[in-house]
Amino acid sequence: MDINNYKEYLSGETMMGPNSVRVLAELFDRHPLLLDSDGLILDLGCGKGLTSLVIAKETGARVYADDLWISAEENGKRFAQWGIGEQVKPICEDANNLPFEGGQFNALVSIDSYHYFAGHEGFFQEKLLPFMKDGAVVLIGIPGLKDEYTGRAEELLSEWLGDDAYMFKSPTSWKALIGCHDRIESVKTWEMDCFEKAWSEWLDTDNKFACGDRQYFETIIRPYTCFVGIYIKLKTPNSDRPCTPGESMV
Ligand SMILES: C[S@@+](CC[C@H](N)C(=O)[O-])C[C@H]1O[C@@H](n2cnc3c(N)ncnc32)[C@H](O)[C@@H]1O
Repeated sequence: MDINNYKEYLSGETMMGPNSVRVLAELFDRHPLLLDSDGLILDLGCGKGLTSLVIAKETGARVYADDLWISAEENGKRFAQWGIGEQVKPICEDANNLPFEGGQFNALVSIDSYHYFAGHEGFFQEKLLPFMKDGAVVLIGIPGLKDEYTGRAEELLSEWLGDDAYMFKSPTSWKALIGCHDRIESVKTWEMDCFEKAWSEWLDTDNKFACGDRQYFETIIRPYTCFVGIYIKLKTPNSDRPCTPGESMV
């Protein structure tokens, strides 16, 4: 995927953190979503919808763009302006209580938001898995702790993140948290390559939260944190490969 195709949409107004389009590009490059216009994808915690735009353009599938803090009305106006109003449906629902029917989605994508609501055991199985089709793919990119600092988020990140520090977990911790299920074929987690570029493209904006992050980049963010990639593949009805808790991305 060529992220230059989306440069015109990126600004301090539409971005809400490290460049979500760059994070998504790395996920798509490693794990392409092979869907067509019949496919349905959930973009969970889509913010102002930058990733929803890219998902729609790159896959051709229909997209549900869900976010809690940004209203469906605001995102709907943006999607109409961007010419994707027919393909992307904005909704404003809590990830803990999604209103969908079972077995709808071919894929779920979540960039820089999963850590806000999914950091406890059983979340994926109880709150998201029921809405996914057999054989579906889940792609997640979130800020987290480097593996060597597993379990030390509060000690190392509180000066920057205050009470939210606990949300930052390492790739190893996320793999354990997502866990197993009869319907899960495999779970892979890894430290993403896009960390430096995604952060610098955010810190270069005039967004007031980027100004705050800038103060901590050299002392806390770069030394202790990473971007965590998470790939989950669900079984197809005739696949019998077990979910393997020790499996890691190499
Ligand atoms: C840092 S922003 C990232 C937004 C966007 N994905 C991006 O990268 O630009 C985190 C997003 O997570 C969403 N979020 C937090 N808790 C949520 C929940 N319980 N359900 C749905 N979305 C949630 C917020 O609404 C917010 O827009």
